[in-house]
Amino acid sequence: MAAFSLSSISSLFSNFASDKTASVVGIDIGSSAIKVVQLRREKGKAILETYGAIALGPYGGTEVGRATNLPVDKTLEALKDVLREANVNATDASLSIPYSASLVSVIRVPEVNDKQLAQMIPIEARKYIPVPIGEVMLDWFVVPDESQSHAANVADASGKKMSVLLVAIHNDTISKYRSIVEGAALNASFFEIEVFSSVRASLDHGIAPVGVLDFGAGTTKLYIVERGIVRESHIINRGSQDITLAISQALGVPVNKAEELKRIKGLTDKTQPELIKSTELTLQFIMSEISRVILAYEARMNASIEVIHCVGGGATLKGFKEYASGKLDAQVSLADPFGKTEAPAFLGDVLQEAGPEFSVAVGLALRRLQELS
Ligand SMILES: Nc1ncnc2c1ncn2[C@@H]1O[C@H](COP(=O)(O)OP(=O)(O)OP(=O)(O)O)[C@@H](O)[C@H]1O
Ligand SMILES: [Mg+2]
Repeated sequence: MAAFSLSSISSLFSNFASDKTASVVGIDIGSSAIKVVQLRREKGKAILETYGAIALGPYGGTEVGRATNLPVDKTLEALKDVLREANVNATDASLSIPYSASLVSVIRVPEVNDKQLAQMIPIEARKYIPVPIGEVMLDWFVVPDESQSHAANVADASGKKMSVLLVAIHNDTISKYRSIVEGAALNASFFEIEVFSSVRASLDHGIAPVGVLDFGAGTTKLYIVERGIVRESHIINRGSQDITLAISQALGVPVNKAEELKRIKGLTDKTQPELIKSTELTLQFIMSEISRVILAYEARMNASIEVIHCVGGGATLKGFKEYASGKLDAQVSLADPFGKTEAPAFLGDVLQEAGPEFSVAVGLALRRLQELS
């Protein structure tokens, strides 16, 4: 059983001595693409220095936009390519760990001190983690009292319990990321589960519960965040690649062509009902799953989720925001993570459009800048 704290995981892989440029790079290795964002701090502001993305499909013999599961050497090759193509020169890197390789849950445990908690967590964790505890690294933090929802407090008014955010990452995942970082000659300051990066990039401070929807290639993730703390996370096994595959089948076109049609037309070309129908097929499924999760949360917590922030390349589908607004009983907005950075004004529209796709990478770089300031 390997318990650790976020700080101990950092020191394992970091080399702070070389932090000369003060530029930092956030690296999001998604299932279909790697996204990188380089920021620098100047006079308290996060300056956008460069950013870039590279599709992983071609490194695995498949199409752009498809989810992959590449071996380390192929991932490394793609990472080196995107770092070069985007002119990234920072070596101070932070990386996201896919949600699917992690387990995040809020658990309720008796109120104990830190030392007792450290002993209790591995035992409690067995109830929540589907693999042997020896195969994972655990981290946790106590959710501060004031952030507990009203409903949770009422439920526990009699016994003294506290909420703890429990995070587990498989050992194999950690070593895979370590090899990638070493191979690319980077210094990793931390690894963060993508949930937290997305939330940092897309939210402003607020206390009302909100949803954060990450519409990726292979999967769609929904996080429910209250007072800045992730209360719940869900994964839906459909993503934007399913839209491409549906278009390819319905229109009888190759996957590459379907991907192109999806990106260029999205839901906007009313002269192509087949294209819209096959796109909506996947979206309908995802929207109904999201509605179900949200309704259940609202009923359980006696709270209302009024806003859903969308991240992920899938959310940049033309007409997605309008479609999702019609299906979900909440205000839907597309994340604008570059809005938290300073960039040349002429890039404004481009950055706003690309924002959802780069949310995780921006969120990582922002955290590192905060740590350095
Ligand atoms: N303009 C666009 N319109 C529609 N879909 C798009 C657009 N741009 C990218 N996508 C789709 O977004 C997906 C990639 O999004 P993203 O990079 O967020 O996924 P990922 O991080 O690789 O996946 P995951 O988070 O599931 O691991 C691809 O399936 C791609 O086809
Ligand atoms: Mg992703």
